[in-house]
Amino acid sequence: MKKNNIILIGFMGVGKGTIARAVVKKSGIFAIDTDDLIESMENEKIKKIFEREGESYFRELEQKCANWIETNVDNTLISTGGGFFMRPNIKYLGHIVYLKSSFEGILKRIKKSPNAAAKLKKRPLLKDMKKAKALFETRTPQYQSIADLVVDVEDKSMDEIVQFIQESLPQVLK
Ligand code: S3P
Repeated sequence: MKKNNIILIGFMGVGKGTIARAVVKKSGIFAIDTDDLIESMENEKIKKIFEREGESYFRELEQKCANWIETNVDNTLISTGGGFFMRPNIKYLGHIVYLKSSFEGILKRIKKSPNAAAKLKKRPLLKDMKKAKALFETRTPQYQSIADLVVDVEDKSMDEIVQFIQESLPQVLK
C-alpha cells in the first residue's frame, strides 16, 4: 500500500526544492527534503560525505532515510536527491511525481540562477559534464518508469507546475 505522501523525483538541478517550496506556500502541506535529513543525520554537507565516505555510504544513508519515511511519515511533501529514486522501497513511500526536463533545460536553469557556481559546487556528480550527461541519459527512462505522475517542467511557469500537481493529487493537497 502506498502512503499518502508526495515524492518529488528528478535529475539534479531540475528544481525539486524550489517546486516543493512553491507547493508548500500554495497548499500549506508540511515538507521535508532527503538531502537535508541526511545532512542533519551526519552533521555534514553532502559534498563532504561524498569526499570522506564515498557514494556507496551516501546511498546507505538514503536507504536509512527511506526506511524512516516508510515507518514514520505521512501526508507530507518529500523532495529527494536525484538518486533517491533507486531505493527499492520508494514505491511504498507515496505518490511519485517525476519533474521532467531536458539536460539543456536543466543547465539553463542552473546558469541563470544567481548562485549558479554554488549550485554546481555542492553537487559532486555534476563536476564532470560529460559524465553528468551520461547519467542523465541512463536515469531518464528509470525516472519515467517508476513515476505515478510526470510533470514536464521545462516550458511551464511555477504557478502552472504547482496547479498541475495540486489538481493531479487532490487526495494529498487540499
Ligand atoms: C545526487 C543528487 C543530489 C544529492 C547527491 C547525489 C544524485 O541531490 O543527493 O549529490 O545522485 O543525483 P539534488 O538532486 O538535489 O542535486
